[in-house]
Amino acid sequence: MSRLSILFAASEMAPWVKTGGLGDVAAALPAALAKAQQDIRVLLPCYPALRAAFPAAKEVALLPALAPLLPPARLLAADADGLPLLLVDCPQLYDRPGNPYVDTHGRDWTDNGLRFGLLSRVAALLGQSHSPLDWRPDVVHANDWQTALAPAFLHYEGGAASVLTVHNVSFPGCFDPHLLHGLGLPDRAWRFDGVEYHGNLCFLKAGLQLAPLISTVSPTYAREIQDKHFGYGLAPLLHYRADALRGILNGIDDAIWNPATDPALEAPYAANRLASKRQNKAALQAQLGLAVRDDVPLFGVISRLTHQKGVDLLHPLGKAITHLPAQLVVLGSGEKELEAGFRELAEPHPDAVSVTVGFNETLAHRIEAGADIFVMPSRFEPCGLNQMYSLAYGTPPVVRATGGLADTVVDVNEATLLDKTANGFVFHHPSSHDLWIAMERAARAWKDRRTWLRIQQNGMRNDFSWRHAAGEYLQLYRDAVAARG
Ligand code: ADP
Ligand code: GLC
Repeated sequence: MSRLSILFAASEMAPWVKTGGLGDVAAALPAALAKAQQDIRVLLPCYPALRAAFPAAKEVALLPALAPLLPPARLLAADADGLPLLLVDCPQLYDRPGNPYVDTHGRDWTDNGLRFGLLSRVAALLGQSHSPLDWRPDVVHANDWQTALAPAFLHYEGGAASVLTVHNVSFPGCFDPHLLHGLGLPDRAWRFDGVEYHGNLCFLKAGLQLAPLISTVSPTYAREIQDKHFGYGLAPLLHYRADALRGILNGIDDAIWNPATDPALEAPYAANRLASKRQNKAALQAQLGLAVRDDVPLFGVISRLTHQKGVDLLHPLGKAITHLPAQLVVLGSGEKELEAGFRELAEPHPDAVSVTVGFNETLAHRIEAGADIFVMPSRFEPCGLNQMYSLAYGTPPVVRATGGLADTVVDVNEATLLDKTANGFVFHHPSSHDLWIAMERAARAWKDRRTWLRIQQNGMRNDFSWRHAAGEYLQLYRDAVAARG
């Protein structure tokens, strides 16, 4: 089959700029597609972390002001271990400290409409005949609201085929209507079946409406978002576009998330060499000031601390966990109240509960390896990477049956133990009570060492490599190109 040229546009990319799973995906999926011999380039804003990581980035084009409110910019090219990057260099919009989306007080940058309007605008331009580059993609792959206007520009102005992947439908990217002209969209785009949404210019809605093909990051979430409880107001549109919508489960990057080779771990291990996982538990307990003991299970959590993740369901269970007895390690950041609530939880039980507020990649790896049981009680979860990391690390997860969690975790019972699919503990109703029943069930199973080993090994033998997803995305791209004719 012929080789495709693909422009993958995203607002973050691990390890340089990462606030969550999108960063992981934007690093691993393009790498998997490049490995599958596709001609792929990744387009990102030139944040300070990228400028610092690629000091030799070369200017490949000057971009004059592309629309009334967009400042001029430059396009830089860099090489990330063989993967070509294109960086939109516009210091006025991107040269800021910290998080790509919010200021130091956690408030959205007030000019996010311009910041990601420019990113979308450039993504579309590179797919058009007047692109300043000789390289021309067959397909522009937009991700989440930050690049979702690219398919809209391509729809109204012509150019390459496009697809949009929605990683989380709860972030729509809605802005004041004056940005329609400010970003250079035509008047005729201001329609209910264009970019308008409840009187605003809505990036995600525009992309979901106008991209020829759309996808999301798990089959179950693709169904759920057509339902009003999950669709955040976009359910009717997603239902209307059901024929164009696919659910493609994310993979995990086993060069980075592999207990046999992970440099962050105390001791490497694998499915057939699980004994040394214990050393990782002891090292984690010691590092965090917990009692170093192997006779109680250690529950681990790594999460954005937000309503989506259901961590508020876990919070009331602190006392019950220590009484079980068990230990709890939490690493996360997000809503200030939840951060404070978890900090308070740890205070009376420093030997049993550890809470680290912040973003710490190394500690995340050490928790995946050192915990016995991972907890992910999400209210909704488009895919979720952490449950796959914990499966790969022999740390069976307790999850709620939603989105990608439902697609990757198989509840332990007699039948699933027998057919060797059992790999975790699933509950359904989003309540502390039901979460607790599942956590207790996991703690009981943990005590039965032989059964536990089977559950761990089932999870570790799951194949979550990106190879499958890369094949499905290639098909999606080919279908988008074919539909364009
Ligand atoms: P989401 O993107 O919704 O936050 P995912 O499970 O897809 O959820 O991905 C989260 C990613 O971010 C994982 O790689 C996880 O390890 C990482 N992560 C989340 N919170 C933290 C944190 N506080 N410190 C380090 N890594 C974190
Ligand atoms: C979003 C979702 C998460 C998903 C990630 C990568 O952040 O919340 O479930 O795994 O994107 O697709």
